Amino acid sequence: MQLNLEDKVVVVTGGSKGIGRSIVEGFLSEGAKVFFCARTSSAIEATIQSLLASSSHHNITGTVVDVSSPTQIADWIKEVNYREGWIDVVVSNVSSISVTDSPEAWNTAFSTDIQGTVNVIQAALPHLEKRKGCIVTISSVSGRDVDFTAPSPYGAFKAALIHYTSQLAHTLAPKGIRANTVSPGNIYISDGVWGGIEKNNPELFNSQMSQNPMGRMGKPEEIADAVLFLASERASFISGTNLVVDGALCTGVQF
Ligand SMILES: NC(=O)c1ccc[n+]([C@@H]2O[C@H](COP(=O)([O-])OP(=O)(O)OC[C@H]3O[C@@H](n4cnc5c(N)ncnc54)[C@H](OP(=O)(O)O)[C@@H]3O)[C@@H](O)[C@H]2O)c1
Repeated sequence: MQLNLEDKVVVVTGGSKGIGRSIVEGFLSEGAKVFFCARTSSAIEATIQSLLASSSHHNITGTVVDVSSPTQIADWIKEVNYREGWIDVVVSNVSSISVTDSPEAWNTAFSTDIQGTVNVIQAALPHLEKRKGCIVTISSVSGRDVDFTAPSPYGAFKAALIHYTSQLAHTLAPKGIRANTVSPGNIYISDGVWGGIEKNNPELFNSQMSQNPMGRMGKPEEIADAVLFLASERASFISGTNLVVDGALCTGVQF
């Protein structure tokens, strides 16, 4: 299947590690021009160097941005537009992964997961409109199932993201802009969330692993592939969907 993502201008939040990094790598390998952000300059540099060494495509730019800052996001998106003249794809991937039920956690999760997504989408919209571009938000199976992260802001705001993305799909369809969500299940990355749980809370790790009917957790590139498909013209009539990529972890039937 030809995705025809060559030379597309793609913006990814949280691209220095984990799922975001795989999304950056996926778009890069398709020949897209990738702009990603994260908060840690050294991690951004290390990611760029390692991707440049492993890819034949070299159109990658990383910028220090905290998505919870509307001004940092606005400056970043302005710079992307100044360089390229438009934006084809926005992937809002960052989450504070706040799984404690404290006022601080609710505030951080709101400003990062919700406001951070709204910040990047609102800033990018005028530039997406020029290209009839598309939006992909990253939610989680915790947004549709009450799971081990409850009670906490994590699943509550992941559910809100699915709703917000659906609103975008409906209101922006007349402008030719599509918006979809990808909801990952448990994605194993050795220096990521599940690698940490495996080391620090093996009981939780084993109990969650046993709930995965495929006998394994997912790989970040399996999420990236779903994002690339939804961002491509192959998904031209798909908008407003929540694509659950979880190896059948969720037991609820999705209608
Ligand atoms: N891993 C899973 O099993 C899983 C399952 C379901 C859903 N998800 C979702 O997938 C997404 C990515 O998760 P992940 O596990 O790949 O996370 P991760 O490994 O912790 O990576 C997070 C990335 O986002 C950046 N980041 C974090 N906060 C930021 C902020 N405020 N502003 C800008 N960049 C920020 C991080 O770099 P800095 O720290 O340097 O900023 C890093 O590049 C999240 O939305 C998560 O909820 C993950």
